[in-house]
Amino acid sequence: MKLSGNTILITGGGSGIGRALAHRFHDLGNTVIVAGRTKAKLDDTIAGRDRMHAMTFDAGDAGSIEDLTARVLDEHPALNVLMNNAGIMRYEDLLADPVDVEIAEATIATNLLGPIRLTSALLPHLRAQPRASVVNVTSGLAFVPWTKTAAYNATKAGLHSWTVALRHKLRQTSVDVIEIAPPAVQTELTPGQSTREGYMPLEAFIDETMANFEADPDARENLVKNVHFLRFAEAEGRFYETVEQLNEALGG
Ligand SMILES: NC(=O)c1ccc[n+]([C@@H]2O[C@H](COP(=O)([O-])OP(=O)(O)OC[C@H]3O[C@@H](n4cnc5c(N)ncnc54)[C@H](OP(=O)(O)O)[C@@H]3O)[C@@H](O)[C@H]2O)c1
Repeated sequence: MKLSGNTILITGGGSGIGRALAHRFHDLGNTVIVAGRTKAKLDDTIAGRDRMHAMTFDAGDAGSIEDLTARVLDEHPALNVLMNNAGIMRYEDLLADPVDVEIAEATIATNLLGPIRLTSALLPHLRAQPRASVVNVTSGLAFVPWTKTAAYNATKAGLHSWTVALRHKLRQTSVDVIEIAPPAVQTELTPGQSTREGYMPLEAFIDETMANFEADPDARENLVKNVHFLRFAEAEGRFYETVEQLNEALGG
């Protein structure tokens, strides 16, 4: 992807990784629209910055995605980059009786159906742009599952697969498709995570991610070094060993 001169929609841009990416891409000279459920967080993100805009929407709701698509294309017809970053991560207990399936339903709606619906809605517009990108944020847990977040891992594995298919299908078009798979990063994705020891500080994660973009803007996957342990577990022939190590370390 090109790193400046874009009009970028970042879902979940009101906090954490999305907010930090929004600010970095804005600093590089892009117009950035941040979207999420909480207006106050979005307003805070765009405060004092020209060329930044905020829109509320719910990634888990098909009608809300339709509304967002219409608003974005109406107000920002130059849109050429979509970053599907919004997500939730809720703990599950697969040994509960009954298991709370509502967590899986909500997680699938937000993390997997959300990006599929929004990308599908914007794709005809993106394909008509001279140069466009779709950037999907998955997770190291797409590649090695943690038992406490079984549905979450599954949504990220699903989004990874969908991203590979989309990239291949669009290989001869003006749209490139990039995956960012973060490791554990200090944000409030789960309560207390922003100060959890052993998680990568947000600024360090964003610094390395932006350096990766600059070093190779056309790379299929933007992977900081901390995520290689999970991303390449299977390729390096240590998948089940890594499942055990991860769950032992995190208590799963
Ligand atoms: N931090 C990590 O360790 C880590 C690791 C791997 C992958 N990731 C991924 O990175 C992405 C960003 O997470 P983060 O760590 O930056 O956590 P975060 O600060 O909680 O960011 C998630 C964002 O998504 C938005 N969001 C959640 N549900 C939404 C919905 N239904 N509709 C619209 N927006 C919604 C939230 O805003 P509202 O609540 O206001 O809607 C929030 O701004 C997620 O996809 C996450 O899975 C994070």
